[in-house]
Amino acid sequence: MSKNFNVAIAGATGAVGIEMIKTLEERKFPVKNLTLLASKRSAGKSLRYCGQNIAVQELNQNSFDDIDIALFSAGGGRSKEFAPAAVNSGTVVIDNSSAFRMDDSVPLVVPEVNPEDVKKHHGIIANPNCTTIILLVVLKPLYDLSRITRIIVSTYQSASGAGAKAMEELRTQTSRILENKEITVNAFPHQIAFNLFSHNSTIFENGYCEEEQKMVNESRKILNDQSLQICPTTIRVPVLRAHAESVVIEQERKVSVEEAKKILSDASGVRVIDDRCNNKFPMPIDVNGQDFVAVGRIRDDISSENGLSLFICGDQLLKGAALNAVQIAELL
Ligand SMILES: NC(=O)c1ccc[n+]([C@@H]2O[C@H](COP(=O)([O-])OP(=O)(O)OC[C@H]3O[C@@H](n4cnc5c(N)ncnc54)[C@H](OP(=O)(O)O)[C@@H]3O)[C@@H](O)[C@H]2O)c1
Repeated sequence: MSKNFNVAIAGATGAVGIEMIKTLEERKFPVKNLTLLASKRSAGKSLRYCGQNIAVQELNQNSFDDIDIALFSAGGGRSKEFAPAAVNSGTVVIDNSSAFRMDDSVPLVVPEVNPEDVKKHHGIIANPNCTTIILLVVLKPLYDLSRITRIIVSTYQSASGAGAKAMEELRTQTSRILENKEITVNAFPHQIAFNLFSHNSTIFENGYCEEEQKMVNESRKILNDQSLQICPTTIRVPVLRAHAESVVIEQERKVSVEEAKKILSDASGVRVIDDRCNNKFPMPIDVNGQDFVAVGRIRDDISSENGLSLFICGDQLLKGAALNAVQIAELL
């Protein structure tokens, strides 16, 4: 007999939380009761799930008393504060923040890449950073063909990666600029409409930012390969939803374009969009609201012997966050 689970979403009103609710419904996750949690500001609001209105409750230390699985998406501070209490009450936490990702006792899981790591959990499983998930869903099949030794990746990250307020800021700034009105800059450090800038995370002494460092550390942990060399550049662009990444890889042996296309066409969670005749390659609008990660522009790297060049797009609210978390819950 199949079991139904009491599920909670912490951060249910956020950009990721809303997608989690939809994903649980669309994938028919066996939910007995769904508890929606957010800040005091949202307590009493109601959100739709499977045709019912569910009232949002304020997240607190007792929120998890009866919960089997909690999907956390309310920022790292809330994960650190509330996930231990949830684990103590027997809940398995799937955490979207960076709070526990590099903790050795916490598996960091992309179901298409390292599903077996789920079994190693002690109550918390971490969802990787969105750019890392999207990258590795495409690179893992190529890695399995021949070990990848080096990755050079540049990202084009949408406003939604920074949450609901950042999406609203892109919309508002765009319409105000088109109406020749003054704009305000709050959610990002710089104007996002009609502009792009280096990712809005802390810059470290070596010149790399936190987002870039996450891609390096998390990719190595997920692939269990500390010698993998990665040079990332992360950029925020005025796209509302879905991230893109330009990627160059070097492998131990030469993998041909044909071989790469074949393996990627058969890969789970990947769709090849590579129509050279019509200059049609992955675009954010192709993957908006979609579960798959699109890959195209699959070319030989003409500057190195064993190199391949690729262009990737994925909906980071779904595969980069909500969908990956629900897939982990399915593995459980
Ligand atoms: N956006 C992405 O693409 C993405 C991808 C991967 C991972 N993540 C991670 O997922 C998390 C959420 O991101 P998001 O983009 O969904 O952000 P968001 O749109 O800003 O949503 C934040 C959520 O956290 C809740 N929250 C904030 N302060 C709280 C508090 N003190 N107590 C309880 N709940 C609180 C908010 O509730 P209120 O509505 O009541 O304020 C809201 O539900 C972050 O850790 C982020 O790093 C995001």
